[in-house]
Amino acid sequence: MSKQDIRGAALVTGASSGIGAAYADRLARAGHDLVLVARDTARLEALAARLKAETGVKIDILTADLTRKADLAKVEARLADAAIDILINNAGVSLAGAFVEQDLDRVESMIQLNVVSVTRLAHAAAKAFAARDRGAIVNISSVVGLAPELQMPVYGATKAYVTYFTQTLRQQLSPNIQLQAVLPGATRTEIWDRSGSGGAEALDPNMLMEVDDLVDAALAGFHQGELITIPSLPDPADFAAYDAARAKLLPNLSRNRPAARYTVSEPA
Ligand SMILES: NC(=O)c1ccc[n+]([C@@H]2O[C@H](COP(=O)([O-])OP(=O)(O)OC[C@H]3O[C@@H](n4cnc5c(N)ncnc54)[C@H](OP(=O)(O)O)[C@@H]3O)[C@@H](O)[C@H]2O)c1
Repeated sequence: MSKQDIRGAALVTGASSGIGAAYADRLARAGHDLVLVARDTARLEALAARLKAETGVKIDILTADLTRKADLAKVEARLADAAIDILINNAGVSLAGAFVEQDLDRVESMIQLNVVSVTRLAHAAAKAFAARDRGAIVNISSVVGLAPELQMPVYGATKAYVTYFTQTLRQQLSPNIQLQAVLPGATRTEIWDRSGSGGAEALDPNMLMEVDDLVDAALAGFHQGELITIPSLPDPADFAAYDAARAKLLPNLSRNRPAARYTVSEPA
């Protein structure tokens, strides 16, 4: 799969539809055995049967609700399997609407899936991969995490977490463990129905990517060894400039006195 030629099996979360199902398809065609994870066993079985017939790779399915600790533990344990070299940390949900109108239990469940499960699975994978000094972790983030203007306060924050988490892990894990955060823009999947956003059909078609194009671009970025992949961004120099502006802040983010504009002048 990668420039390091990772040949092992891939565990894909959220493989029953959308981006995860497209990853499963592409990885099977590239010859990777698969472990497919989601809640909908029937959909996972149908996908596994099709891909086995079309590609001949070995596919296991693991039904799990990743917001439930016991189910998550099963998937974490599976990542210790020496045959697994790749984690596609993809399962995620979104939620439409203004924060104060959102159902707080759904908000919490979104944080549980988009943040807690991504973190626990990355931890399990990173430990297993570190022991073998090889492997790859792909975390599916979102451009929303870069853009408060899009007004998805909790969803966007969960995705900002995923991007930051991946960038920071890069500094701690062996260079032989490949890491990538993929930041899709709007992509035609069921997430737009499930989130209560009115379906992908309601979106401007000029801003909507087809899921196969998205995953093919993400895999191309992976093969190029990118840490951050924004499939729709024409010029990577734009993200580099954004990151350089952030890095320029670093020397002044922690100092022994407040900046002059915050200095309270003594009353005369
Ligand atoms: N589509 C976009 O525009 C877009 C843009 C940026 C980022 N993303 C990200 O891409 C990822 C995939 O989303 P998608 O667009 O492909 O949406 P999707 O078609 O709705 O797929 C979501 C997947 O996650 C699984 N899932 C949901 N809740 C789960 C749970 N509690 N436990 C286990 N699996 C669960 C679903 O399967 P089951 O229902 O069978 O469990 C499904 O396979 C998400 O992280 C999303 O935030 C999507």
